[in-house]
Amino acid sequence: MFVKVTPSAARQVTIYFEGQPLEVDEGITVAAAVLGSSHGWTRTTHGGHKRGPYCHMGVCFECLMTINGVPNQQACLIPVAEGMRVSRQTGVPNFDKESCNHA
Ligand code: FES
Repeated sequence: MFVKVTPSAARQVTIYFEGQPLEVDEGITVAAAVLGSSHGWTRTTHGGHKRGPYCHMGVCFECLMTINGVPNQQACLIPVAEGMRVSRQTGVPNFDKESCNHA
């Protein structure tokens, strides 16, 4: 479990994780928001095994999530934004070059 070690003075924004509102610090990544809220995992493998953010720098792809309806987004590279809709990704969605955040 991840816990903030110091209180934050950052402005709070509301994102919707699995449809539920979640107040988080502005400027953190989606992956940090999910881990910090104790929700833990972000996706499952093709076989259904849970995975969570690992490297936090865009290398491991363990953090893939659906963000604002677009699958295969690397949650560790995307900052939260007010009203953002985030959901876990299950299995392997169809890959679409247009939806990849590495153009
Ligand atoms: S946590 Fe490794 S790519 Fe996002």
